[in-house]
Amino acid sequence: MSSAVVNTAQANNLPSTKQFPADPDLKALYTQSCYSCHAMGTGGAPRTGSAKDWQPRFEQGINTLLDHTIQGFKGMPPLGMCMDCGEEEFLALIEFMGGSAATAGE
Ligand code: HEC
Repeated sequence: MSSAVVNTAQANNLPSTKQFPADPDLKALYTQSCYSCHAMGTGGAPRTGSAKDWQPRFEQGINTLLDHTIQGFKGMPPLGMCMDCGEEEFLALIEFMGGSAATAGE
């Protein structure tokens, strides 16, 4: 991993409970579902905006992450408890939560 990625993560080192998607619709979905576990890392969930938490997850590839979101994965409930989310929303939410880790592998 390049040092530029680490520096970005440090620069964005906000508490994950204060980070929300810029898009209002996505923010509403996030607040109703993913937030309850991913903001604080409840049950071992990778924390929103934490490149450190998300880096190993993104190494599996975005398609695996999408599958695990839809089908569930260990403590992660199927659909992440977002019944109104489609694939597009899930991808946007995963990329939002992944912070700089989401773009590092591209
Ligand atoms: C009830 C709590 C809970 C909710 C709600 C939740 N998650 Fe998770 N999520 C988890 C936990 C716990 C893990 C870690 C599972 C593990 O690896 O042990 C996880 C892991 C993940 C992963 C990584 C899976 C992998 O393959 O490593 C993704 C992606 C994810 N969640 C997306 C989402 C999205 C998107 C939402 C909202 C639509 C969401 N989650 C809502 C608890 C939750």
